[in-house]
Amino acid sequence: MIELKGRKLVLGVTGGVAAYKAAELVRLLGKAGADVHVVLTEGGARFVTAVTFQALSGNRVWTDLWDPRMDNNMAHIDLTRDADAILIAPATADVMAKLAHGQADDLLTTLCLARDCPLLVAPAMNRQMWEHPATRRNAAQLVADGVTLLGPAAGEQACGEVGLGRMLEPEALCEAVIGFFQPRLLAGRRIVMTAGPTFEAIDPVRGITNSSSGKMAYGLARACAQAGAEVILVSGPVALSVPEGCRRVNVKSALEMREAVFAALPGADVFIGVAAVADYRPATSAEHKIKKSGAELTITLTPNPDILADVAGLPNPPFCVGFAAESRNLDEYAEGKRKAKKLPLIVGNLVQDGLGGDDNEVVLFDAAGRHPLPKAPKPEVARAIVAHLAALLPKI
Ligand code: C5P
Repeated sequence: MIELKGRKLVLGVTGGVAAYKAAELVRLLGKAGADVHVVLTEGGARFVTAVTFQALSGNRVWTDLWDPRMDNNMAHIDLTRDADAILIAPATADVMAKLAHGQADDLLTTLCLARDCPLLVAPAMNRQMWEHPATRRNAAQLVADGVTLLGPAAGEQACGEVGLGRMLEPEALCEAVIGFFQPRLLAGRRIVMTAGPTFEAIDPVRGITNSSSGKMAYGLARACAQAGAEVILVSGPVALSVPEGCRRVNVKSALEMREAVFAALPGADVFIGVAAVADYRPATSAEHKIKKSGAELTITLTPNPDILADVAGLPNPPFCVGFAAESRNLDEYAEGKRKAKKLPLIVGNLVQDGLGGDDNEVVLFDAAGRHPLPKAPKPEVARAIVAHLAALLPKI
């Protein structure tokens, strides 16, 4: 994924034990396409050396306000001149206190004071330090000054205590940085989405399912959350982690999925049916494991409810979006489904082009006609769907 392509980030690493995780963060940000310039404080350099960051970022590392390497000797101005953001991870209680008071006694704090780009701060400290009234005041002051706080998380700490103060994991920080740069097109919207396959039990250990991986739904849920929406993912069994900012409700069968969807619907602005819901389920599920007898075995199937059509058919339905994966006649079948299920928007996708790969090519169908989206990496396609959806929603 190259979702930070073209972004220049200054990463400030201060003196907390979580500094070792900043090395992994540099690698992840770089993998996402960012050009990362590390500024290491004196304390940070006690935990991880500049050599590590230099090797991982491919850029020289800055530590000293008086570094003569810049032609004009103005590292504190030049480093952030064309930066898209400064991220401090880990941020100690000390650096937060300095920032809250506008102190500038080293390169990093001077850069922060002289910047004209956003500042993101990932606190990392002992639970008691985080809870101290002075840190609470400083954190509140930073937020009031327009600084974005990322975390901290709760959990086990290096000192052996458990509580709030841990730095977010590098993956979560990288996700937060990607999310930070996205337009908040769905701010204030509540979205319920179905995902993955369903599993229709034959007996306690067997069932009928399909090969849906859930990747499309989880990718779209991630894009919706990064656009500011509150997302509830009603998900069949998949091996994916829940995207940042989404809540997952686990279900197995289509009937369970339908029940969970209707329970989550009150207050929802949008419903997106991405799940590959089984069209049929065994009419009865055996209480005990069916024994092999050698004789022919017949399983009678009964149709499952169409969750999307049921939601769209409500007296005051949320804005409903469907998916249509077709192997041929995409326009005819997708538009046919849109009309039959009374959907304002359906995402059509020719399966021989899309499934499994990193890229996807979809066509959106709405009341205004067909809108083909260019073939692109899946996260980009998800963002294009979000933009189209956001433009169709009634204003709030
Ligand atoms: O009719 P078809 O299954 O092709 O329609 C696909 C769309 O309908 C998808 O959005 C899918 O999530 C939804 N669907 C549903 N419940 C079903 C079958 C499909 O919500 N039982």
